[in-house]
This record gives sequence, C-alpha cells and structure tokens, in this order.
Amino acid sequence: MITQRPKGTQDWYGKDMYRRAVIEAEAKKLCRAYNIKEISTPVFEHTVLFSRGVGETTDVVQKEMYTFTDKGNRSITLKPEGTAGAIRAYLENSLYAESQPTKLFYFTQAFRYENPQSGRLREHHQFGVEFVGSKSPLVEAELITLLTKFIERIGLKDVKLHINSIGCKNCRKIYNEALLSYLKQHEQCLCGTCKERMQKNPLRVLDCKVPGCKEIVKDAPRTIEYLDEECLAHFEELKELLTGLNIPYEVDTGIVRGLDYYTKTVFEFVDSNGFTLCGGGRYDGLVHEIDEKQDIPSVGFGMGIERILYFLDKEGVELSPEEPVKLYVGILGKEARERAFKIVTKLRDAGVSVETDYMDRSVKAQMKYANKIGAQNTVIIGADELDKNTVFVKHMESGEQTEVALDQLEEFFL
Ligand code: HAM
Repeated sequence: MITQRPKGTQDWYGKDMYRRAVIEAEAKKLCRAYNIKEISTPVFEHTVLFSRGVGETTDVVQKEMYTFTDKGNRSITLKPEGTAGAIRAYLENSLYAESQPTKLFYFTQAFRYENPQSGRLREHHQFGVEFVGSKSPLVEAELITLLTKFIERIGLKDVKLHINSIGCKNCRKIYNEALLSYLKQHEQCLCGTCKERMQKNPLRVLDCKVPGCKEIVKDAPRTIEYLDEECLAHFEELKELLTGLNIPYEVDTGIVRGLDYYTKTVFEFVDSNGFTLCGGGRYDGLVHEIDEKQDIPSVGFGMGIERILYFLDKEGVELSPEEPVKLYVGILGKEARERAFKIVTKLRDAGVSVETDYMDRSVKAQMKYANKIGAQNTVIIGADELDKNTVFVKHMESGEQTEVALDQLEEFFL
C-alpha cells in the first residue's frame, strides 16, 4: 500500500516530466505574445464555490469532487477545475478595478473522482486561460486562435475545432421547456439520476454517459434552434471571425459541455474519434453567481496536460529532445577530487551543464556512465592534468580529442 499511489494518479518523472515542462514553456511563450498574465490559486477552495459555480446538478459536483471537512469544520474541496478559483481570485483581489479585460493563464492540478480509463484521471493537470471583462466574440476568436497556434506548435495534426452555442439565460428558459417536454416522453427509459436532473436542470441530462440515456439524447432538441437574436448574432459573428482567420471549424450542435456556467459559445478541439483534447467557452453568469454585486462576462478554456501527452503519443509526435549534458568531468584519484569539483562548480556557474562522479567509480566505469547519460564531451582530471593545467576534451560522438587549458574550459564550451 505504502509504495502504491492512489488509483487514477500518476508520478511525474523522466521523459513525461520533461515533455510536460516543454508544453508548459510553449504555453507560456504563447501567453506572453498574447499579453496573458499567470495566476496561481489554492489547490483547495470552499466547497460552495464549486457547487454554486460549476453547478449542483453537474457530474463534477454530484459525483466527482474530493470534499472533506477540515479541522475548523469547514467544507473544503480539492479543485476539480481551474475556472471557479481563478474567478474567485479575480473578484477577491478586485482585478476588475484594473483596465479590462483581465487575461489570465494558469497551470493547475485538478481532482475528479472518475473511473480511471481512456485518458481520465483522478488527478490531472490543466493549462487554462480565462479572459474576463469582454462580451465581444473577438475574445472567443482570440482564444481559439491561441489554441490553434498552440496545437500547431506542438505538432498535433488530428485535431479539429467543434463549436456550438448554448445561448444565454433567456434562451435557456425556452429551450429547457422544449427539452423537458421531449425528455418526459422518454422518461421511463432514463436512468435514476437523469429522471431527477430532468426536473432540476434538463440540460445536464445531455451529459449522461449511461448508454440508454445517450440514445434518447441523440434526438433531443438542440440549443442552437432556440437562440435569441443577440445570441444568434454573437454566434454568427464568431463564425465570420473564424472564417476570416482561416480557422476551420465544424458546428457541432451536440456540444453542451458538462459544467453549468457556460453561456453562448462552447467549443472543443477533438480528434477523428471524437476524443476531446480541450474545451471551453463563454461563461457570462459565473462572476455574478460568485459575487452578486458584479456582472462581468468571461470566456476561457482548459486543456489537460495528460491529454496532450496522450495525443502526442497517439500521433507519434516527438517534442524537441532534452538538451544533453555538455560535459562529464571524470575524476582520477582522491587527491584530484577537491580541485576537480571546484572546476565543475565554476563551469556550472558559467552555465555549462556538467556531470561528475559521486560514486567513487573507476575511470572506466565513469566513462561508461558518461556514455549512458549521453554526455557530449568528457574530460578526466587527475593529478597530472592539474599539474600541467590542461585536459583533453573528448567529443564522445567523433572520438576527437582537443587539448584545452583548465582555465579556458568555460570559454571552450560557451
Ligand atoms: P473540462 O472540459 O471539464 O473543462 O476540462 C478541460 C480539459 O481538462 C479537458 O478537455 C481535458 O483535456 C482535461 N480533463 C478534464 N477532466 C480530466 C480527467 N479526469 N483526466 C484527464 N484530463 C481531464 C474545464 O475544466 C473548464 N474549467 C474549462 C474552461 C475554462 N472553461 C472556461 N474556462
């Protein structure tokens, strides 16, 4: 038990840890270009933030949250997603008082008690972006452009943009009536949870993963048929913007997203099997839901890092390889160790990546080790080299050796 991690979690090390760092660096680079600032919020929040923000009748809140009572008798939840916390922080820190929009990005862990299968984990990591303060479809277009660039830069090909509109509060009222009346005709075939949800929040029946419910939902009325004038115009404008930007998309009236805060635009990037890489949309009501004195429109997306890795593996895409160790400094004899170690430190200070021996290996074993870790060059420092103040730098691939003065080693490698 002690050496076994909890189900649905993952340890990060080696190649995947490196790939995660590359992905995060690429994401940060793009965010800099789009003037999006990083935010980091606590990994746990008051439970009510999610039950109100994400929605009482969602799968996430009803079935998946890691909730516990802390020693102060407060109900606390490990964040199941990044948006609610980012918006709470936006409000608590009065970021709305600054010039708008506020453009935020984050990397966060997220916790959902899911059945760990096909890319679903109980702890996953998200790269998320939230734009708060603008109701223009330009911000949706900007987010989608950023995502398109990101996907392009990491080299994924089998990813397509699907968009839909689920309308605003007003559209939803009329849509809910139509959906409810449709669902009532099939009530006897719905699962217990859906029978309940149908009355409280019929849209959430569309998320149900039970095969019988999925079958019924296939022919349910679509939100897009119930958009009011403003929501329709918003959606049309977004489509025009995307066309103008040469970003291909498909209108997929089946996307409603599983979280309650969405309004108007929803979108997902999916592969040819319909598996989702990332998702997001507009959520004009969330700020008001969290702080009723405020009413500020917002848009955002979240993309799972594990999902990105899964997509990269599926397509056989390799990210740029890790920089190799530039130099292995082998040590010959205990007397040389102290001075060799000083040289290692000096080289590292100068920015050269250096590895050395800490295991008292023989010179032969040290060279084998240097080879194993992929060091590009090696030197051996012993009493002789220290006396003469020179070493032979061996380029491992070509076998070529160059004599270099010890105090010139930094320059040689920079
Ligand atoms: P979401 O669709 O629930 O949306 O999650 C966003 C992304 O996180 C998914 O597309 C997927 O890549 C990844 N993901 C979600 N659940 C899991 C899981 N159990 N295991 C592995 N990866 C997962 C949100 O969370 C919204 N906060 C996105 C958003 C931001 N909407 C507006 N702003």
